[in-house]
Amino acid sequence: MKLFLDTGNLKDIETFVSLGIIDGVTTNPSLLAKEPGDYRDNLRKICRIVNGPVSGEVIATDWAGMIREGHEIAKIDAHMVVKVPLTRDGIRACKALAGEGIRVNVTLVFSAAQALLAAKAGATFVSPFVGRLDDIATNGMDLIREIVDIYDNYEFTTEVLVASARHPIHVVEAARIGADVCTCPPSVIDAMFNHPLTTLGIERFLKDWEKAQAARA
Ligand code: G3P
Repeated sequence: MKLFLDTGNLKDIETFVSLGIIDGVTTNPSLLAKEPGDYRDNLRKICRIVNGPVSGEVIATDWAGMIREGHEIAKIDAHMVVKVPLTRDGIRACKALAGEGIRVNVTLVFSAAQALLAAKAGATFVSPFVGRLDDIATNGMDLIREIVDIYDNYEFTTEVLVASARHPIHVVEAARIGADVCTCPPSVIDAMFNHPLTTLGIERFLKDWEKAQAARA
């Protein structure tokens, strides 16, 4: 499973990419709005750092505007993926942009029916938001199972990109189900590293080593 970073923060992207575990980056208007500087420059820098797919989202809500913005986003760098919302206009724009060979990530997906539409429109990625479903007492990971089943049935090539991941269990479940990608905020990847027995184990090894060294001195 590919691991994407869900942030527009250049410092965090540099830090996590340097670990060698990040395959791409997803952004959205809320994430990019938090960062200083021109968003296009930031997206260009992100592409150079990650050297993999980077999603940048359109602001327009009409299909013609989405296509215009989609062209601008695609022009930023060859790694750019145009993110459009799952609306009638978004699906129409997805079909048109995909027809031109531009990769599209259809976002704000909350049902299997919507995911089917994204695949039909030639999306490269579909982004179901698991955390926001959990927030309204609906199991987000059940949706991932449904989408993976449907895509497998018909061999759709659209990749299932689990978005709105809030904790490591979302990532583990995504991998068990066979999702193609999970995008995580830095805090979730940090949490994936942590285990008290790892910390304790290192402390114990070092203490034993130092004790043995002192006894030999
Ligand atoms: O990029 C979309 C996404 O992952 C949103 O996450 O935590 O705002 O629901 P969240």
